[in-house]
Amino acid sequence: MKNMVSIGLLGVGVVGSGVISLIEQHQAKLAHQLGCNVHVKSALVRNPNKTRDVDAATNGTVLTTNPDDVLNDPEIDVIVEVMGGIEEAREAILKAFEAKKHVVTANKDLVALYGAELHEAAARNKCDFYYEASVAGGIPILRGITDGFASDHIEQLLGIVNGTTNYILTKMHHESVSYEDALKEAQELGFAEADPAADVEGLDAARKMAILGRLAFSTYIDLEDVDVTGIEGIELEDLQHGDNLGFTMKLIGFAKFDGKQVEVNVEPALISKDHPLADVKNEYNAVYVYGEAIGEAMFYGAGAGSMPTAAAVISDVVTVIKNMHRGVTGSQFVEPRFKKELKPVDQRFGQYYIRFHAKDEAGVFSRISSLFNEFDISFKQILQNPSKEADTAEIVVITHRSSLEKMQQALGALNKLDEVPDIKSFYKVEGDAEA
Ligand code: HSE
Repeated sequence: MKNMVSIGLLGVGVVGSGVISLIEQHQAKLAHQLGCNVHVKSALVRNPNKTRDVDAATNGTVLTTNPDDVLNDPEIDVIVEVMGGIEEAREAILKAFEAKKHVVTANKDLVALYGAELHEAAARNKCDFYYEASVAGGIPILRGITDGFASDHIEQLLGIVNGTTNYILTKMHHESVSYEDALKEAQELGFAEADPAADVEGLDAARKMAILGRLAFSTYIDLEDVDVTGIEGIELEDLQHGDNLGFTMKLIGFAKFDGKQVEVNVEPALISKDHPLADVKNEYNAVYVYGEAIGEAMFYGAGAGSMPTAAAVISDVVTVIKNMHRGVTGSQFVEPRFKKELKPVDQRFGQYYIRFHAKDEAGVFSRISSLFNEFDISFKQILQNPSKEADTAEIVVITHRSSLEKMQQALGALNKLDEVPDIKSFYKVEGDAEA
């Protein structure tokens, strides 16, 4: 067993700085758990003279601008990639595996796109490859679902896995702040990615759900398999109606596996206030797991930030070092157990929220309800108020569980009715007893 395990860091930004300081701060605890010391020997940076949150030199870490100084150093056992981006990071990780180094990354974009290739390269070189920090920052969710649910069948996951959008929706719901103002605040607080489009369009959450789905269901889910809708079009009115009906709006990542077919999507949905996810506010993340044996379990915490993310990275480093000591590195699964089969739309079911305008005349509601009846869709809750336009009512309904395909057909037919000038919005409902 080695007395000292050396880490090579790729990137000393927000997360990299956290990794250096947490390792330094918790030397004694790490040494006690691992029976050896852990040290960040060198770190790849673009500009060694830049002022950073951590003074790498005082921690004995050498900064370099040459990737080979880190990737080809024979004393380095584990590479920690926290520089972000895709191509450069992918190349560096593949090089690290060729040099027989284990890799830990926080890079969800990379894992979502190239996870299969990287796992394969790791296995070929008998190396470990872990990425706990790539999903929901400091929450130990990947280890939770792979180890904690090892002897269970995970039926479904519901996740709030993007802090920026959760912050925006919380502000809109509880303070009636407009979408634009709430986004500005999230950016000022530093939650949003450099390009907030990835957050608000749902792509960041989709990447995390693809990774979660793969590990939960042991089937290879591509990013393109995830149906994504962002939060940009959300109007305060829907949050208010949702609130009156007992729901709160969240950007929900949904993944379901029936043992054969898988369904993964990310979309704004109304979640019952009785569901624990409804209480996940501001920038917090949570993943709600439905297991056959364990039942329902929720993982909650900080989904981003220097220290939470760095702590998740180091938890992977600890796993790698334990594997090294036991001589079992490179033994992670590569081949998923199940061949991917996506659930067709006619077999997807849910409860739905619809808001539309209709002429406020005798018989109109009865025509609307017959139309839904033709598609086997029944209403569970109904709200009707006069709309701002003369002789028009605003109608909000929450349906009982129905087929998504039939719902889409019903909306098409509703749109054609002369008595219905406008369908304003349509959302999935989650967390209701029947959803
Ligand atoms: N921008 C992400 C979020 C942070 O808002 O959750 C890390 O993925």
